[in-house]
Amino acid sequence: MSSPTNSRDSFHSRIGFILAAAGSAIGLGNIWGFPTQAANNGGGAFLFVYLIVTVLLAVPALYAEVYIGNQAQKNPVSALIQACGERFKNTGRNAGIIGLVGAMMMLSFYTIVAGWMLAHALSALSELFGFIDLANWLSTSSTLRNIIFTPIFLLLGAFIIHRGVHAGIERWSGRLMPILLIMLIGLVIYILQQDGAQEGVALYLIPDFNQVLEPKLIISAMGQAFFSLSIGVGGMMVYGSYMKKGQDIGKLVLSIAALDTFIAFLAGLLIIPALFVAQHAGQEVFRDGNLIGEGQLIFQILPSLFASMGSVGLIVSFSFFTLLSIAALTSTISSTEVPVSYLVEDKNINRKRATWLVSAAVFVASMTLVAFFDVLFGLVIQLLTTILQPLMSLFYFIVVGWVWQRGNQLTDLAQLQNNRKLKAFGFYLRYFCPILLIIVFINVAF
Ligand code: PHE
Repeated sequence: MSSPTNSRDSFHSRIGFILAAAGSAIGLGNIWGFPTQAANNGGGAFLFVYLIVTVLLAVPALYAEVYIGNQAQKNPVSALIQACGERFKNTGRNAGIIGLVGAMMMLSFYTIVAGWMLAHALSALSELFGFIDLANWLSTSSTLRNIIFTPIFLLLGAFIIHRGVHAGIERWSGRLMPILLIMLIGLVIYILQQDGAQEGVALYLIPDFNQVLEPKLIISAMGQAFFSLSIGVGGMMVYGSYMKKGQDIGKLVLSIAALDTFIAFLAGLLIIPALFVAQHAGQEVFRDGNLIGEGQLIFQILPSLFASMGSVGLIVSFSFFTLLSIAALTSTISSTEVPVSYLVEDKNINRKRATWLVSAAVFVASMTLVAFFDVLFGLVIQLLTTILQPLMSLFYFIVVGWVWQRGNQLTDLAQLQNNRKLKAFGFYLRYFCPILLIIVFINVAF
């Protein structure tokens, strides 16, 4: 076990990568983040910009990230050092470390929200067994609830991760995701039949084109797209590195992005009409034209939706929040794998120890967020999704398009394989993507 390359675990199959990467992508970003953002940014306009940004920038960025990892077959820090070559070695290392910090930022708030999901699942269960007071406590946000459920979730994740990539991740990811998908579709069908839903569907599907060029909307949609595809913190890079070389990464990336986007779309189609159904039923959802409770939105809307189903509602609620907790777990695993793989491969710490070390660090970070929730929670999310993730993507574009082997790695590869599509894509990554991203940034800054 002395050489890190020999001790590297890997996915046993192509499908292993697909499941793990889809497990990373599909998570709270889709079902908690996307509908909340869409509801707060005009519905249809947000969806419209989100789809455009996903196709034009996020998918290429995901490609670049997976590609770098796959070529290097190393953890994100070493992979970026290698990709940057001797001349830009330090830049590569710094970028790798920034990504690692991003992964920790992601974990610091993600574990809190995942804890909310766990608490809501248990709340439905408690109600089912007649513990009404407990159920109420579990479904009401409080600092104490955060202090209890964030570590519970962290421990669950650590147990899976320390067992390694194959045993831990491949087996868990994807098993339960088909159920989540079916359940979402069922809930969408249910909500669309309720009074008031049509208004929500219209708001969600018909964009108001006066809004689509608003910088705030564009940057939120972009951040959401990068977050949803897990780009820019190295999680997808690690998974790419655990896959054997020579796979058609383009196809893999496209199918993961399509699935992820479809699930976010469905979640919007559930929550936004549900909002109007709740309003129709007399619940207050807007105050002075703004949504009440932003981050708490789905926790205000979903419980009344489940309650409207009668007694099966509790079972639906329990299953839904349990599935969401699992979806959150598979996303957490990919972020945790970033610092863990770095500690294992570059610092010679064994996997178990590395997992506990990282979990302890995340615990401290998330408790800091809990302690200064009002100031830090939103700020960390915003810093990560609208600044760090897009900047890291810009870096990936530059690395793959320009720096790697002092030229355009993809163009070289395309020439070797005489692949015209890849050549066009190489050109696109080299010029179009970085320029577009820079334009978006400048636009937002001024
Ligand atoms: N994509 C995940 C989600 O949508 C979140 C995530 C971001 C996971 C970054 C890993 C890295 O929930």
